[in-house]
Amino acid sequence: MSTVAPTPATVPADDIEFASRDRIAALQLERLRWSLWHAYDHVPHYRTAFDAVGVHPSDLRELSDLAKFPFTTKADLRANYPFGMFAVPREQVSRIHASSGTTGQPTVVGYTANDLGHWADLIARSLHAAGVRSSDVVHIAYGYGLFTGGLGAHYGAERLGCTVIPMSGGMTERQVQLIQDFEPDAIMVTPSYMLTLLDAMTRQGIDPASTSLRVGVFGAEPWTEAMRRELESQLAIDALDIYGLSEVIGPGVAMECAETKDGLHIWEDHFYPEIIDPETGQVLPDGAEGELVFTSLTKEAFPVIRYRTRDLTRLLPGTARTMRRMQKITGRSDDMIILRGVNLFPTQIEEIVLTVPGLAPQFECVLDKPGRMDRLTVRAEARPDATAADREAASATLIHLVKQRIGVTVSVEVLAPETLERSSGKVRRLIDSRPR
Ligand code: DLL
Repeated sequence: MSTVAPTPATVPADDIEFASRDRIAALQLERLRWSLWHAYDHVPHYRTAFDAVGVHPSDLRELSDLAKFPFTTKADLRANYPFGMFAVPREQVSRIHASSGTTGQPTVVGYTANDLGHWADLIARSLHAAGVRSSDVVHIAYGYGLFTGGLGAHYGAERLGCTVIPMSGGMTERQVQLIQDFEPDAIMVTPSYMLTLLDAMTRQGIDPASTSLRVGVFGAEPWTEAMRRELESQLAIDALDIYGLSEVIGPGVAMECAETKDGLHIWEDHFYPEIIDPETGQVLPDGAEGELVFTSLTKEAFPVIRYRTRDLTRLLPGTARTMRRMQKITGRSDDMIILRGVNLFPTQIEEIVLTVPGLAPQFECVLDKPGRMDRLTVRAEARPDATAADREAASATLIHLVKQRIGVTVSVEVLAPETLERSSGKVRRLIDSRPR
């Protein structure tokens, strides 16, 4: 029976977050070597893929040599469903998570006890960066279950020493009641479900700014600076961005720091980031926008080598920490709308919708093809206090601003308040109803 090589020694968390770039790079190189060997030795897919392009773990002499290794994609994970990408015998797997996957098979991921320990440490580190402390009460409204959000957040908040309220998603009225009764300091939830909770508070006559909440840790879907302003002003909180994906570990791959709110610090001691040109696969320099790719540095059960996330962003130097930052995600390459030759993302529409007086933050983008040309309709809800004249003005303003800032003409429908379906997890902003 094969056994797992011990994970290289960990460095005290609070120390490594502020370590010199040289020290971070040395640790990454040591761990990257281990991870490549571990994947090659224990996962047939990686051995075959490395052999096919003639690379071997011993070819890694410096960090940039990683570019010689092949990418891993969602299709590779699907082809090895369910456990073919696991690098340890099943008896050493402590937990399984899976992403639902809109098409076809779910993606299954696994964790050893050590992996779960690292994950909890990284969430604890992330919460601390968000300004959460061990004396705080944390309300978790990410879904519990196969989704990594709920349980990932849960064990990390416990690791930090917080009092945890494991609400999960849904039962909106009850969530609001328990926020009133249990007086949490922090909430962990998708930004779109936070909007649903905000609506429910307003319906119940509660001023959202009057709750005990001080910090919101929002992630699992793209959200913008305009949304930060909306959430911070309505709730009187600090709104921070947390990023992650199940294939890489779950939430806690990168986190924004409360003191700077300037993009997300990637926890580079556990995940090695690259930005590539999505067309050519070429590695791009820091600062250039492209597709984010991750290689795990310490994961035992489910190592990933150059995993293509399809998320678009750019790498920036560290600020509040020495680890590099990633800019807030613009969107996934799958969510890119190409309208008459112009590329745009729902996040760009969000930025604009939230600046238009009379519009609520609830909107969706519908793509259809009534004739020979694609048409994009932005369906946005009016704020409850908007008059008929306000709505008309809002529609004209939105059309104008989209044309001015993005360069495309869109149709706009301003809907009555509370018409769009509310999110209880990840919101779907783009509905493509073009004929196939
Ligand atoms: O969404 C993990 C997570 C849970 C992250 C809770 C943060 C908070 P998946 O279901 O595998 O995992 O989906 C991963 O969601 O590739 C991004 O496209 C998107 N995503 C996650 N966090 C952010 C974020 C979880 N902060 C996919 N900003 C990723 C933008 C995000 N997109």
